[in-house]
Amino acid sequence: MKHLLKLGDLTREDILSILNLADQLKFERNNGIIKEYLKGKQLGMIFQKASTRTRVSFEVGISELGGHPLFLSSHDLQIGRGEPVQDTARVLSRYLDGIMIRTFAQQEVEDLAKYGTIPVINGLTDYCHPCQVLADLMTIREYKGTFKGLKMAFVGDGNNMANSLIVGAVKTGMQIAVACPAGYEPDARLVKWGKESGLLTVTSDVDEAVAAADVLYTDVWASMGQEKEKAERERVFSGFQINEKNVKGAKEDVMVMHCLPAHRGEEITDGVFEAHAKEIFDEAENRLHAQKAVMVKLMR
Ligand code: CP
Ligand code: NVA
Repeated sequence: MKHLLKLGDLTREDILSILNLADQLKFERNNGIIKEYLKGKQLGMIFQKASTRTRVSFEVGISELGGHPLFLSSHDLQIGRGEPVQDTARVLSRYLDGIMIRTFAQQEVEDLAKYGTIPVINGLTDYCHPCQVLADLMTIREYKGTFKGLKMAFVGDGNNMANSLIVGAVKTGMQIAVACPAGYEPDARLVKWGKESGLLTVTSDVDEAVAAADVLYTDVWASMGQEKEKAERERVFSGFQINEKNVKGAKEDVMVMHCLPAHRGEEITDGVFEAHAKEIFDEAENRLHAQKAVMVKLMR
C-alpha cells in the first residue's frame, strides 16, 4: 500500500489491517499512551473544498503522532492559479513526507500520486471518500462486532459516499442496498462490480432497501460543488430520507450513520438524527483514529 487514492485499490486484508491499527490507536489514546509513530514527519493538506472533520482529524492526528501538519488552501497555493498538478506534486515531494488532498476530480489525486514520490491520501473527491468509509467500517465493527451477515442500506444520492460505501461493504462482506432516484445512481462501473459480488442491490424503493437493515446510512442531497442544483435536488430527493417510518422498517437494533455535515429535515429527520447521535458522533470521532492509522501505514 503506497497511497490511499480510493478504497478499490486496497485488498480486504489492507482494510482490516488499517481498522485493527485504528482500534489500537484509539485504545492507546484513550489510555494516555503516547507513541510518536511519525515523529518529525510533515503532512501537507491541500483543500480545494471546505472541511471540518477531515481537516481537524488529520491535523490533530499527525500532531498526536509526533509529526507536523501544513494546511494548504487552494486559495493560497499556486495550484489555485493554474500551476499544474504534475509540478505541484514534484515540488511538494521535495519538502513533505505525505500529502492529503480534498478536491473535485479524482484524476487530480491520481496525478498527484503519479508525479510525486510521497504517499498521497484522498480526503474526498467527487468520486469517492475512502477516509470516511474506513472510519465508518471501524464504527460498524465497534457496534456490531463483525461485518458478517450485516446489511447496510444507503438512502439518498449515489454520490462519493455511496461509491465508497459500496466498495467498503463488498470488501468486508456486508450486503448493501442503495435507494436513490432514477438518474442518481452510484458510479456505473462500481454498480456492475458490486452486483457481480452478489452483495449490492440498487433500487428506487426506499422501503425495500431499508427492510431488515442493520445499518442505515445517508448523506446530503447536494454535495459540495452542486450548490446550483440545490432546489432541483430538493424536489428529486424528497422521499429519499431517513425518517421514523423507515427506521421502523429496519432491524430493531439498527445503527443510523451520517458522514456529516447533515441537513436535518432533508436527508434525515431531526428526531432520527438525535435518537442516533451517539453512533453518528462516535463515527465522527473515529475519523481521527482511522486517519491516524492510514498515516502510520503509509508514512512510517
Ligand atoms: N465527513 C466529512 O468529510 O466532513 P468534512 O467535510 O467536515 O471534512
Ligand atoms: N457528499 C458530500 C460528503 C461530505 C463529507 C460532499 O461531497 O459534499
